Amino acid sequence: MGVLVFMYIHILGSAAGGGFPQWNCNCQNCLGFRNNQINAQARTQSSIAVSNDGIDWVLLNASPDIRVQLSQFKQAQPARQIRDTAIQDIILMDSQIDHATGLLSLREGCPLQVWCTDMVHEDLSTGFPLFKMLQHWNGGLNWNQIKPSQAFRIEKFKDLEFIPFVIRSAAPPYSPHRNNPQDGDNLALLIIDHQTEKSLFYAPGVGQISPELFVVMQKADAVLVDGTLWTDNEMAEKGVGTKTGQEMGHLHLSGENGMLSILDRLDKPRKILIHINNTNPILNEDSPEYQSLAQHDVEMAFDGMHFQL
Ligand code: MLT
Ligand code: MN
Ligand code: ZN
Repeated sequence: MGVLVFMYIHILGSAAGGGFPQWNCNCQNCLGFRNNQINAQARTQSSIAVSNDGIDWVLLNASPDIRVQLSQFKQAQPARQIRDTAIQDIILMDSQIDHATGLLSLREGCPLQVWCTDMVHEDLSTGFPLFKMLQHWNGGLNWNQIKPSQAFRIEKFKDLEFIPFVIRSAAPPYSPHRNNPQDGDNLALLIIDHQTEKSLFYAPGVGQISPELFVVMQKADAVLVDGTLWTDNEMAEKGVGTKTGQEMGHLHLSGENGMLSILDRLDKPRKILIHINNTNPILNEDSPEYQSLAQHDVEMAFDGMHFQL
């Protein structure tokens, strides 16, 4: 009889930039949460950890909330020596503040192995120069290059294969090519565990599901995808901003062409939403929008959620 083996997925943070509630926000959700008037859970900014043995973990995105996220994730600190961590490598899906700023809080563990594309490396060496700054901390960040569409392996995770897919979205405001989108600004990732042949598709920020990407999602055993907004113009509707989901590179959930109707057409995978913005009505678990997720067989990720494939 073989030993049971799994790929382990731990959700460190499930909210979009700003978290939930957002410190300066009084939208229905944020105010409602603070006043105990809605049925909702607080959420930190989006980040997950993945492992093929439950001991060594790869971090996908490093959020500004990383310190508290790791303190609440027991397996992150195996305590084998005086200074220790289970986090072996860090993959960045983009160079946005909510996905990269946590690297500053991990400086005590430098040098860190950071995997990202040329475009993300450029942003994080110029407009938001984390690679330059952190050089002053024991060698800082060791860049491991991700080439769009080229599968890669990470030494410590020998059963895992990582396949990055280019998705069209906007680079952050501080990027030198902010108005000139490039392949590699944003990635989706398929992670295949070759011990179990199970796979996870991860795309916390995706503006459009191309037919090619849909085929990849169809093959995965679980999809963990962009659940930022319920409607494309939600920020304006809630009176908190002017940017649309499309401008920010986030496909909204509702409607004929929304993420839920795309997820409806997938039969195999477990379907989970992540990177939920604080304006999104699904955060209120008594709302009709949240209640409707069950009909789509879709779950909403929460901080501390843990599952295995
Ligand atoms: C995004 O996902 O669009 C950005 O992370 C928003 C932000 O945090 O500024
Ligand atoms: Mn974000
Ligand atoms: Zn809010």
